[in-house]
Amino acid sequence: MALLEVDNLQTHFRTPDGVNRAVDGVTFHVNAGETLAIVGESGCGKSVTAMSILRLIPEPPGKIAGAIRFEGRDLLKCSDREMRDIRGNEISMIFQEPMTSLNPVLTVGRQIGETLRLHQGLSAQQAEAKAVEMLTLVGIPEPGRRVREYPHQLSGGMRQRVMIAIALACNPKLLIADEPTTALDVTIQAQILELMRDLKHRVGAAIVLITHDLGVVAEVAERVIVMYAGRKVEEAAVGPLFNSPKHPYTQGLLGSMPKLGSSLHGTETRLAEIPGLVPSLKQKIPGCVFAGRCPRVTDLCRQVAPALEEKAPGHVAACHYAIKEGAIAA
Ligand SMILES: Nc1ncnc2c1ncn2[C@@H]1O[C@H](COP(=O)(O)OP(=O)(O)O)[C@@H](O)[C@H]1O
Ligand SMILES: [Mg+2]
Repeated sequence: MALLEVDNLQTHFRTPDGVNRAVDGVTFHVNAGETLAIVGESGCGKSVTAMSILRLIPEPPGKIAGAIRFEGRDLLKCSDREMRDIRGNEISMIFQEPMTSLNPVLTVGRQIGETLRLHQGLSAQQAEAKAVEMLTLVGIPEPGRRVREYPHQLSGGMRQRVMIAIALACNPKLLIADEPTTALDVTIQAQILELMRDLKHRVGAAIVLITHDLGVVAEVAERVIVMYAGRKVEEAAVGPLFNSPKHPYTQGLLGSMPKLGSSLHGTETRLAEIPGLVPSLKQKIPGCVFAGRCPRVTDLCRQVAPALEEKAPGHVAACHYAIKEGAIAA
């Protein structure tokens, strides 16, 4: 059994001009200790997927269907109280904006310690000691002094380190990081990435890493899922995904990427620009969701949605024309 199994997740939002199918039938799993990356352009449903796992979607206008099993337990069937217990205890999340998620009137020590006092019943003194230990773990200098400071006294990069410390304080089995470096300066991004890579080995939590930065994916993740317009269009281990992407969308995203293994430092590793726009998620798309932008589109693509199919062992893609390994190219 995988640690997390997301099965046919559908998260839809009712809006005045129709239903927004933000996530439309997405299935994936995360094994214990593994790092899974979710990539795709803005608006493809990555954050909604993450928020659905933690049941942080406002209902209404949102509605979540499908199954989300964490250690075999369907989170969609848990009570609000059970979910509060799971959040920040067994599953933690790091958001893009460290400032908005920190409480400006509490010291960083209090904020790290609060979850511990809540979930593990530590005394104030034990919680502060643990907070200092966590600040040390995430590489904050002078942790004994910093623990008594307020968020505004820290730089953006430090605040994100504090967020990571909070997320890891309870020893979660799963950490969901939604674009954890996007809001930071480039040099700070590299430092936070370095930290995440280091922590991955030391902490042992499974990580779902949502990112725009393919360089990050190449360095941190074992497996990748590519999302487009609320669907999963490709999934593979990181090597095969970079070296032989099957879906034209993934090929487009990787367009200007340096090859895996070459030095990523100093090179542009953001997703390539693909001409055209993500289709509105409010219309039912009869064929392939990528048909409107695909350089290889045919009538078949416009009429019939391609199923996710295994194109090579452990490598699935939803494209009529992605060639199966071992098959003879027509
Ligand atoms: N609370 C909400 N109400 C209505 N629509 C929403 C809400 N949250 C997200 N969406 C929509 O869901 C879609 C996917 O968004 P999101 O998951 O944030 O994309 P990504 O993280 O991939 O950039 C978008 O069309 C967005 O407008
Ligand atoms: Mg997002």
